Amino acid sequence: MTSISKFSPSKQSTAHLIKQSMQSCRSLTLALFDTVDHPTFCRQAHPDFSPIGWHLGHIAYTEALWLLQRCGGYSPLFPEYHRLFAQGGLPKGDRVNLPTLAEVCAYLEAVRSRVFEYLAIAPIEEQKRLWCWLLQHESQHAETITLVLEIQKRDNGWGTAEMNRGSVGCIDLCIPDLTLQMVCVPAGEFEWGNESLDALDNESPVQRGFLETYWIDRTPVTCGAYRSFMGAGGYENSRWWSEAGWRWRQECGVTQPLYWSDDPIDHNHPVCGVSGYEAQAYARFVGKRLPTEAEWEKAASWNPLTGRSRYPWGNASPNAARCNHNRLEGTTSQVDRRLEGQSYYGCYDLLGNVWEWTTSKFDGYPGFESFPYSGYSQAYFDGAHWVLKGGSWATPPWVLRSAFRNWYYPHTREVLAGFRCVCESEP
Ligand code: AVJ
Ligand code: FE
Repeated sequence: MTSISKFSPSKQSTAHLIKQSMQSCRSLTLALFDTVDHPTFCRQAHPDFSPIGWHLGHIAYTEALWLLQRCGGYSPLFPEYHRLFAQGGLPKGDRVNLPTLAEVCAYLEAVRSRVFEYLAIAPIEEQKRLWCWLLQHESQHAETITLVLEIQKRDNGWGTAEMNRGSVGCIDLCIPDLTLQMVCVPAGEFEWGNESLDALDNESPVQRGFLETYWIDRTPVTCGAYRSFMGAGGYENSRWWSEAGWRWRQECGVTQPLYWSDDPIDHNHPVCGVSGYEAQAYARFVGKRLPTEAEWEKAASWNPLTGRSRYPWGNASPNAARCNHNRLEGTTSQVDRRLEGQSYYGCYDLLGNVWEWTTSKFDGYPGFESFPYSGYSQAYFDGAHWVLKGGSWATPPWVLRSAFRNWYYPHTREVLAGFRCVCESEP
């Protein structure tokens, strides 16, 4: 997969690379709809998320708005869809009266053919950042489509235990259990963030900081480990929960992660579908806490000898041996398998598999400048959204990197998210 951050300065090949990336991103998006019927296309599976058909139309609308209308000066295409598919157009609950999949595909196609017409004449060097943004915009909506489909699968009664496993390994009980280990990140200065061409507004500018020594879990918390919290009555005991977390727990009556699996085969899979509150409660139960974003990112991208890298393993593109991403396996996978994905400090599965909760509130770094519009990031700098890092098994490669910042309310449990823990002293 071509990395968009490596676009060469020659105009011809830049346009060519953009086109290729947009095409492969689009075929991944469309593949999600292969077996989708109209009710599934239109159903709002959860009040916080729009129907998958809406996301598909919104991808076309956003591409047309930024590239055709704003850059190319084209007149609006399919104006009858604008109110429906605009980010702030209709409340999420009113997005259920949708055109058919075939009609939305025709919309995507009509926009795309003009976009490629425009690409041939566009001042691409000046616009690279916007084209990169659009690729990442589609990638993020594709992941949201995946998670909405996961919610619908559960609602239809074929929960995670029966889901097809892309690769089923056996649990080796004789090898040293990495999932119980922590690694030390010694005190020191480090850098985090991203200023490359594909950086989203909220990742820039690069930050410099200092952290005291801390210890971080080598792997995300597994279902096996989380089961001990459940078995010990963790969901019933307020002492493990924050005040806000316990209030939330009481109100919604949750007793297990959303994508919970009891199958022993999933013992070493990361726990998936927890709110930030559940993650926090588990961490307190084991005498640890959730990392801050800076702690997570230092463990994921810093090397005291060579500095900051794009991925935990260095700067080479993600692949199946390094991380479970891009729906390669179609679900979570064992957390202790991807030696090639290790970070300098020895953590596994920092990218892919599950998003990881941090307790940092989503905000702009000092020097933040919004791009391409303040509604993308800045509108969420409200002190109420927490940062998630690392991407999941469904995250497309264009948004998979250590600096990428996702954000949700701490009560959200529909995201393909788990967590790992930290502590200040040797465990
Ligand atoms: C960063 C995934 C929370 O889907 O709401 C897509 C990304 N913003 N279109 C979201 C986004 C505008 C955003 N998340
Ligand atoms: Fe969007």
